[in-house]
Amino acid sequence: MAGRIPQSFIDELLSRVDVVDVVDSRVKLKKAGKNYSACCPFHNENTPSFTVSRDKQFYYCFGCGATGSALKFVMEYDGLSFPDAVDKLAGSVGMSVPREHNPVAEREQQENKPLYELLEESADFFAGMLRQHPDKQRPIHYLKGRGLTGQAARFFNIGYAPVGWDNLQTSLATDETRKKQLIANGMLIERDDGRVYDRFRDRIMFPIRDIKGRTIAFGGRVLGDDKPKYLNSPETPVFQKNRELYGLYEARKIRQKLTRLLIVEGYMDVVALAQYGIHYAVATLGTATSEHHLQRLYRMVSEVIFCFDGDAAGKKAAARAMETVLPVMEDGRQARFLFLPDGEDPDSLVQKEGKEAFEQRLASASHLPEFLFDHLKEQVDFDSLDGKARLDQLAAPLINRIPRGTLRDLMVAELENQIGIASRAIEKLENAPAPEPPPTADYPEQPPAFHMDDVPPPPLSMMEEEPEEDSLPTAKVLNALTAMVTAPALVQSLDDKLLEGLPAPRSEYERLLLEVIRKLQSSPQSSSVGLLIQWIGSPYHQELTDMANQSSAVTPTAAAVQDVLQRMTNREYLQEYAELKAMLATAELRKSMTAEQKQRLSELTRLIRESRSPAAIYRQSKRQR
Ligand code: UTP
Ligand code: MN
Repeated sequence: MAGRIPQSFIDELLSRVDVVDVVDSRVKLKKAGKNYSACCPFHNENTPSFTVSRDKQFYYCFGCGATGSALKFVMEYDGLSFPDAVDKLAGSVGMSVPREHNPVAEREQQENKPLYELLEESADFFAGMLRQHPDKQRPIHYLKGRGLTGQAARFFNIGYAPVGWDNLQTSLATDETRKKQLIANGMLIERDDGRVYDRFRDRIMFPIRDIKGRTIAFGGRVLGDDKPKYLNSPETPVFQKNRELYGLYEARKIRQKLTRLLIVEGYMDVVALAQYGIHYAVATLGTATSEHHLQRLYRMVSEVIFCFDGDAAGKKAAARAMETVLPVMEDGRQARFLFLPDGEDPDSLVQKEGKEAFEQRLASASHLPEFLFDHLKEQVDFDSLDGKARLDQLAAPLINRIPRGTLRDLMVAELENQIGIASRAIEKLENAPAPEPPPTADYPEQPPAFHMDDVPPPPLSMMEEEPEEDSLPTAKVLNALTAMVTAPALVQSLDDKLLEGLPAPRSEYERLLLEVIRKLQSSPQSSSVGLLIQWIGSPYHQELTDMANQSSAVTPTAAAVQDVLQRMTNREYLQEYAELKAMLATAELRKSMTAEQKQRLSELTRLIRESRSPAAIYRQSKRQR
């Protein structure tokens, strides 16, 4: 399964399958006029609000908004990743999927394949032990004692690693190669003297699965009070623990539309919540929530709720989570904070009070702005004037981390409302000296960096807005947007690195482009229609539709989009660069520069050079002159 799938193939595939057949083979459809209908498979309902259109080749649910092409349906209904859904759909019409070559990725995949396979075999082994081992009553008794149902255990593929040093080894390490691979994927441990033994012994086993459903690691819990309570797989070529979230695959596998995700602490919390019908909980694996985690979750849903213990440690963890979430809070995203009563965790609480009461708690979780101000006000004497000044000092750098947008503006307004005057601290941060104007602002229009440059901007009726400082030329952004809208599957071929930390938008169009990309990442579409339907009811629907309908002679390319993203990223580099450069230029400031700042400066120099952006080239030529 190596390499990217060419867009032309996806188009061909979608022209050969019929969404009506694809849906009908899974959910019985009834003809209703021109369209077909059924009760929606993605949410509970008694009267059909799910319709499938043969003409338009998409489905749409008026109840929950689920929508997309045949391919999207297979992804959502069968719980498959994009490439797997393509494989399955192609197989159903006898087509085989061509892949674009990527030798490095292919070799890596070749090497990792046996590691994945043996992890799968290990999961089967542990699950089998829970059913067949002579001593199975102990783990079963333990799990029952914790209130777990057999159904939940099966859904998460929970198993048991029996007592003993070589159960897994004897069963699975049937030759030297397999033994080496089981050491490489963390299932066996090799001692210095060469002896090899099972990592997991006498533990309840939780398989950790990646988003595609492949088992990539395990967490193992003791049955009693021994330490360590949980043992996790080490980092391996197929497992990086600060990137993965326990339960994410399972949350997507349940056929319900995900609108929010809840971040909890433990394996058992995820399992118990799912058992009680709260299928949207995920857990970090004994690490703090990282920005990477959050970017990933926000690509799928717009609301993330953090769940913490009500004690001091929980408060501290919440403050840290807040700092991590600020830079990813683009407009439209929500972060909320829930504190549980002392001594309870989601597992114990949901078992005690059930789904509805737990969801009531979620409904009352604080929103980010509320939490931020409450948290800071606890640290100052808010009733005194100097306390208010202090609040300004504490809040400004935090608010400053939020990407430019409405949320940020509202937070500034709230801060000023709280302290009763304009915020000096914000003003200071915003006017931070930038003596050398950022080069992006003044570089002349460049020779075409991508071939859509020559195309005139689409004749749109979008309201003209004041361009924000440093925003990219509108024509370029519109071209990128047009490319995305006419060929949504291009999102698959964008550089992952650029997508990971999407730059802050500085104009309405940039924001719209990022939003389109984000929507496509969380629900890939292969046709414009599937994308456009998600914008119905938004002020952008008409404009985007117009873009899609423009018959342009130019083929939309990923390069056009990539170039805009790269420029946006470079813009951030250049701004930071200019700020640091300015420090260097003043003797006094230079003295105060930290080692990190100096290092960052040389790193930025490298990044800018490597990106070979027009701006960077311009800078270089200016220097040479
Ligand atoms: P907790 O200690 O809060 O346990 O650890 P829990 O999840 O409530 O576990 P139960 O209910 O007693 O079974 C929270 C998470 O921290 C990680 C695990 O991911 C665990 O789920 N952890 C904890 C470890 O990795 N190692 C440990 O020894 C303890
Ligand atoms: Mn617990």
